[in-house]
Amino acid sequence: MADNSEEQFTPLNPTLLSADLARQYKAEMAEVLGPDLMAEVDWRHGDPNFEKINSDYYSIWNRQQGGHKKYSYFAVYDRLFSSFRHKRATMLELGVYKDASLKSWQEFLGEGSTVVGVDINPDCHKYDAAEAGRHVRIGNQFDSEFLASLGSEFGPFDIVLDDGSHKTDHQIASFNSLFARHVAPGGVYFIEDTNTSLWPRYRQGGKDIFDLIRALGLATHIFYADHYYSEYRREEHPKTFRTLAAAKLIEEVRIIDAGVAICKAGADHYPPLVDLR
Ligand SMILES: C[S@@+](CC[C@H](N)C(=O)[O-])C[C@H]1O[C@@H](n2cnc3c(N)ncnc32)[C@H](O)[C@@H]1O
Repeated sequence: MADNSEEQFTPLNPTLLSADLARQYKAEMAEVLGPDLMAEVDWRHGDPNFEKINSDYYSIWNRQQGGHKKYSYFAVYDRLFSSFRHKRATMLELGVYKDASLKSWQEFLGEGSTVVGVDINPDCHKYDAAEAGRHVRIGNQFDSEFLASLGSEFGPFDIVLDDGSHKTDHQIASFNSLFARHVAPGGVYFIEDTNTSLWPRYRQGGKDIFDLIRALGLATHIFYADHYYSEYRREEHPKTFRTLAAAKLIEEVRIIDAGVAICKAGADHYPPLVDLR
């Protein structure tokens, strides 16, 4: 797959958003959401004071050269990843570009952290700094064997950040290659730029990101398709239930502006239990 960063950063004209796609999604939304939420409104880009962006990650990233980042992610990073700071965490970032991001993550996560970057562009190899705890491997995020080899070499990962090709089928395939086997319990898998499902140029494969989001939402509920509450009353405890790995492993899904974070269950994520007093 001949992705390269030049192609990535070609300014995208909003007209690339197909009118048909927009109509179709809005019609779908209107079937569920009421008129207050479906009203067309103005949303102005104000005059943010960049010095006051409330994000430790931003203040670190801002000192680096060669990054490519959407501003709304900065506060999100702090919310999602602060609990991993100063704990010798291991992070995998899909999409290196230049090394600003890897360096920023390492500083944010603190001493003893390990940051692994993956890029399809062989030039990125020059950012490999193993002695400093920053590793770069060249490969395609769509290659599940390659990702599995990274999992064996460096995993399990506390954080995976997909900021790579932004192609929908890659985003879904990488998640499936990594999440169950190579993300640590309590870890977070964050897919950035999920908005690309709305841009035909990136929308590859038969699925869009909303198929993934729906499946993730179902994962947090599917247990109840097979089990009724009388089965998980406290008197029944302890008990083993049959369910999907997705139900057991996915504790929380956060959907944000152009991103989805999937939080992997920690050791204390147990099946439902209900008390009737
Ligand atoms: C948005 S940039 C990464 C920006 C970087 N994370 C940062 O914050 O500065 C995307 C990178 O993904 C790489 N890339 C594109 N397709 C890829 C693929 N299929 N597998 C791995 N990397 C890919 C590009 O070469 C590019 O360097």
